[in-house]
Amino acid sequence: MRGVFFSFKMKTAPIGIFDSGYGGLTVLREIVTLLPSYDYLYLGDNARSPYGPRDFDTIYHYTLECVQYLFGQGCPLIILACNTASAKALRNIQQLALPKIAPDRRVLGVIRPTAEVIGNFSKTKKVGVLGTVGTVRSESYLMEIGKFFPEVEVTQQACPMWVPLVENGELAGAGTDFFVKKYLDELLVKSPDVDTLLLACTHYPLLEPVIRQFLPKEIKVISQGEIVAKSLVDYLRRHPEMAERCSKNGHRAFHTTGSAEDFDGHASAFFGEEVKSIHAVVAHF
Ligand code: DGL
Repeated sequence: MRGVFFSFKMKTAPIGIFDSGYGGLTVLREIVTLLPSYDYLYLGDNARSPYGPRDFDTIYHYTLECVQYLFGQGCPLIILACNTASAKALRNIQQLALPKIAPDRRVLGVIRPTAEVIGNFSKTKKVGVLGTVGTVRSESYLMEIGKFFPEVEVTQQACPMWVPLVENGELAGAGTDFFVKKYLDELLVKSPDVDTLLLACTHYPLLEPVIRQFLPKEIKVISQGEIVAKSLVDYLRRHPEMAERCSKNGHRAFHTTGSAEDFDGHASAFFGEEVKSIHAVVAHF
């Protein structure tokens, strides 16, 4: 008798990339450069951005709602390409929510992969971390960098005006110069020997040309996009079972909780190419 063979084709779906707004596109851009064959579904919670000034519970609930949305679209793996959400929501999502709602899926953040390498950039062993109020107050970078580089002194600086400037396309001009210089000066007064500045917010790379103008040449400015992309390459290599569940047709889709028209108007500055998004209805609970 001839054997009966069943052929199971595994259901695959895009990798989800989440940010409160446009900032995560600076991370997606680098991820696509290193891993072009995978499919990606980007979700920006533009309707509720910025997250930076919001309290812990609110950021947790908003982030979880967006994670559920991306799970609803099938994503087996989600990257929180947002430091504020990684600082305030990731641990609870991984430890409390995932075991109940999706034990076989994974959500990763951007703080740990950055903390694992940032000390390597500094000779003086003095690193400055520029982030939102939420990221700074969480002290996540102090804790995480301390684990990998206990000899590094970390000085944090909250830059509450930078995300609103970037989200509104104010990337140059007197107002932007004023607020960029203000926070850099405050940081350099606290830590004059700092030789490495981490842009610990995925929106900040768009301000890098202005940031550079107000810094001595010897200070390095580090963006996270490439660091996070390399860490994803490594994660997928170490987890072939997850890599197999991620679809690979080179597609990118963009969803926003805000206006798709506004998103398309701003997104190319962050992503580096034209973007066509659709409006996402995220369930509130
Ligand atoms: N892009 C987010 C981050 O990396 C912050 C933006 C916000 O405040 O919503 O922290």
